[in-house]
Amino acid sequence: MRLDVVTIFPEYLDPLNVSLVGKARARGQLGVHVHDLRDWTYDRHNTVDDTPYGGGPGMVMKTEPWGEALDTVLADGYEGGAHQPALIVPTPSGRPFTQELAVHLSGRPWLIFTPARYEGIDRRVVDEYATRMPVYEVSIGDYVLAGGEAAVLVVTEAVARLLPGVLGNAESHRDDSFAPGAMANLLEGPVYTKPPAWRGREIPDVLLSGHHGKIARWRRDEALRRTTEYRPDLIERCDPKAFDKKDREMLSILGWEPDPEGEPCGRFWRRTGGVEQ
Ligand SMILES: C[S@@+](CC[C@H](N)C(=O)[O-])C[C@H]1O[C@@H](n2cnc3c(N)ncnc32)[C@H](O)[C@@H]1O
Repeated sequence: MRLDVVTIFPEYLDPLNVSLVGKARARGQLGVHVHDLRDWTYDRHNTVDDTPYGGGPGMVMKTEPWGEALDTVLADGYEGGAHQPALIVPTPSGRPFTQELAVHLSGRPWLIFTPARYEGIDRRVVDEYATRMPVYEVSIGDYVLAGGEAAVLVVTEAVARLLPGVLGNAESHRDDSFAPGAMANLLEGPVYTKPPAWRGREIPDVLLSGHHGKIARWRRDEALRRTTEYRPDLIERCDPKAFDKKDREMLSILGWEPDPEGEPCGRFWRRTGGVEQ
């Protein structure tokens, strides 16, 4: 996979040299190219922003440097053999960045990121490149950062760890929180390692039992418990077919019950005054 990032703070992307992403680069699984947007400015002050049409506070990033930068990045990439680019535009007004989107993006060969500053980029830039490639406007959460570089680091790490051969154990991300499939979008429960006792705290006996079925059941119950506590919306959205008999027993203990009028039928909702954990 090839990644290009155009930014006015190239040094902000230095963490892409370390840990998992850095190793994937060193192994040649990921090619990362960081570009300084100011290389495409021609005035004495290397201006990349201007006042907004219609008035209002803040500044807006100008079309010309972005247009020239993206044209150059695209030309260089194609020349280097890259193909099927997709533009990733970090913005708090984008679609939520989710594990599902990370999985989707990990299947694309070339991602070009446009982290902005100020009040964002003149809309015409996104509209222009949307005629040439898929554009994903993504938000990493319901808060506003000063710039999109941190969002690029977040998206890159989430995507890179899904690339074949990047994680030491290919199974590692199958049980992740939000992993599509078996866990029905539940949060992952607690994890433990050696020693078995630390400062008087022991690990749950079941994890030492060697009984795979019981361990799987315990993990599933803990996932249901944690999801109930922090993300009950995930359980409300779950298709009830994802829950087996034992799940339903646990859900009942946690205060959930099937709603006969829910859509699809039997979707779970939480009784008020449900059992406290
Ligand atoms: C100060 S913000 C612009 C906020 C803009 N006025 C708005 O409310 O949409 C500057 C840049 O930071 C990045 N950014 C800020 N919050 C973000 C978020 N939650 N997710 C992704 N990018 C974000 C985007 O690149 C954005 O253009």
